[in-house]
Amino acid sequence: MKRYNWRHFFGGVALLLILLQLLSGLVLTMFYKPHLNEAYSSIQNIYNQIEFVAWIRDVHRWTAFLLVVSIILHFIRSFLRMDYLNREKKTFWLTGVLLFLPLLGFLVTGFILPWEWRGYWFMEMVPNYVGNIALVGPALKDFFLNAFTMNRNFIAHVLVLPVITLVLIELHSIARIRKRSGGIPGYIMRHGMVTLPFLLVIGFLAYYLPMPSQDPEIIPMPLDGTYIPTAEWFVLTFFLPYMHFEGFLATFLSFYLPFFLFLLLAIFPYYLRRERRDATESRIQESDALMKIRGLFSKIPTLNNQTKLMAFFSVSLVAMTVFGALYAGNYKSPTMGCNSCHNTYSGVRMGIPPEDFKNREILPLLDDNKWMMQHWYYPQVIW
Ligand code: HEC
Repeated sequence: MKRYNWRHFFGGVALLLILLQLLSGLVLTMFYKPHLNEAYSSIQNIYNQIEFVAWIRDVHRWTAFLLVVSIILHFIRSFLRMDYLNREKKTFWLTGVLLFLPLLGFLVTGFILPWEWRGYWFMEMVPNYVGNIALVGPALKDFFLNAFTMNRNFIAHVLVLPVITLVLIELHSIARIRKRSGGIPGYIMRHGMVTLPFLLVIGFLAYYLPMPSQDPEIIPMPLDGTYIPTAEWFVLTFFLPYMHFEGFLATFLSFYLPFFLFLLLAIFPYYLRRERRDATESRIQESDALMKIRGLFSKIPTLNNQTKLMAFFSVSLVAMTVFGALYAGNYKSPTMGCNSCHNTYSGVRMGIPPEDFKNREILPLLDDNKWMMQHWYYPQVIW
């Protein structure tokens, strides 16, 4: 049997987790109803009646979380290994960076699907978010508000985004995997082994830490779920500046800066290529370039084990910084506690997202990003 390739450990993990999302998602589509009035009750039904499917749903959510984590780690490793310098792998780099987009799309649409207050609020925040972009913003905002229906959101989540993702992953890795000995089944077998610990962790998390969303049978308290890390975190980060900054600065930090970084990363290999156009053989060239840049970073002789150790520490350091920042920004968010006030026991108005949703004239509060964020993070103080 072919040896496992550790270079792309987290990439392999991510691929298997995507498969798992496909399977658990398939099960969920059989129980979920994509209608404004039925979405939430269909999920409550699952929780109140079909324990196994409830577990599957929590598997789906925790997998989403670990998927984001493994993709970030995979990216950090590829970045530190300077894969973008490798001319032959240009497409892999580009498709990898582009895959961030459908991932974000999955998080956003998935967030909205349950259509409790959290999902409803989020649906209102997304048009506000894009609406702040210069020039195209207002048109985009109108488009999102007009185009949104529960059905379209659902189709985007279960059909459009999966197709885009599959095409990109095909170019990113599956095409290569297919050519190897054992093909895709062999790959899944090998990576299944190393992914097993992750799968076990997901199973346990889903069992012992279900999301407290069993309203109204068990209503969570306002601050329930405050310290539960979820995939929702990663999306919320984009909105955070709206709470602390105003005007252009808020948009700059939440949109322009991330977008600029994204573009920069995507074109990295194309941008760096120019410097080495005149050299002959790209493979040798690449390792030359690698050696030179490595040399800049350290005077440590390139003993194999030392390099590995260094790689390990640098990946850990960067990962810890990234996740530390995400955690520090978001751990206070009562991700699951909205139902404590917004439930049918507090009256119809509070229980069901209003019929005038999307209408900024009747509900001007929905246009106020700052209020939305403050209410999200401190619902017991600001409302
Ligand atoms: C401590 C109780 C409480 C919690 C917890 C809470 N809210 Fe609210 N929320 C309120 C009250 C009260 C209002 C004002 C209702 C009104 O104006 O009729 C409100 C209003 C809103 C509105 C205003 C827009 C509208 O349609 O009227 C949104 C959106 C909203 N909440 C979303 C959320 C979200 C999302 C969460 C969870 C992160 C949350 N709320 C948690 C009490 C709460």
